[in-house]
Amino acid sequence: MLGCVCYQIPGRGTGSSIYMQALGVAAVVNPASLTARCLLPSRAVGVRSCSSMTGPKTAKSSLLFRQLFEKESSTYTYLLADVSHPDRPAVMVDPVDKTVERDVALVQQLGLKLLYVVNTHVHADHVTGTGLLKAKVPGVKSAISRASDAKADVHLDAGEKIHFGDLYLEVRPTPGHTKGCVTYVTGEGPEQPSPRMAFTGDALLIRGCGRTDFQGGDASQLYKSVHSQIFSLPKDTLLYPAHDYKGNTVTTVEEELQHNPRLTKDEKEFKRIMQNLGLPYPKMIDVAVPANMVCGIQDPVAMSAV
Ligand SMILES: [Fe+2]
Repeated sequence: MLGCVCYQIPGRGTGSSIYMQALGVAAVVNPASLTARCLLPSRAVGVRSCSSMTGPKTAKSSLLFRQLFEKESSTYTYLLADVSHPDRPAVMVDPVDKTVERDVALVQQLGLKLLYVVNTHVHADHVTGTGLLKAKVPGVKSAISRASDAKADVHLDAGEKIHFGDLYLEVRPTPGHTKGCVTYVTGEGPEQPSPRMAFTGDALLIRGCGRTDFQGGDASQLYKSVHSQIFSLPKDTLLYPAHDYKGNTVTTVEEELQHNPRLTKDEKEFKRIMQNLGLPYPKMIDVAVPANMVCGIQDPVAMSAV
């Protein structure tokens, strides 16, 4: 536990935030210091690993971004950090237990201070690396939606913001694949990455979407979630899914509005498609879901240590 990191949730509902103070430095955005900042290399599309060090940049770029891959479950893990902040605070999205060593090494090599490990939902196809990361990186907090009913240090509600340095992720509920799915979206405003970036979990995959026949899934709900919470974002928003099975890395709202073979249909046709996928029983679900309800570590002794 990092004693000097404190968290405060000043309210619930729209606009409420998780504010962090890391090493005594307030991590809320200071607009005066940000007006001239160009944050994100704006054209990182199609690059699995991109950052302020590898793409087009200005001297004041501040978002470091990495897309990491776990091959057995074809899962993407994302690492975001504000590297213009002196503490280089970072957030990791959807880590996998099998690649935790790699992820910890990367965080250390880049000199980042990992504050949060967040999950988009309770995964059924792999065990999250959240519990292992908490054990290996002092002070890390786990976070997941309140609606997931999963164990975590922080339970997130719609509209909450996860701040890391001068940047933040906004929580958008996108249930339908599971009842607790959320999409994390980078902030809005001149000081935040442009174009915006959305981490959609399994609610929206590149030219697809997650199945809706387990874990409280509901095709109508998923259809409404994607259209109201993801497709309503600016068309150039970069969409990063939790998985891809064909080697794709990123898409945009505009691309999916044009080419998603399921979600371009009307709701009735979408439901018909989802009801007739004929998918096999998820082979990992009976192991992964119980583990992921408790951050990936089921052993109560081990859990009490993280
Ligand atoms: Fe999933």
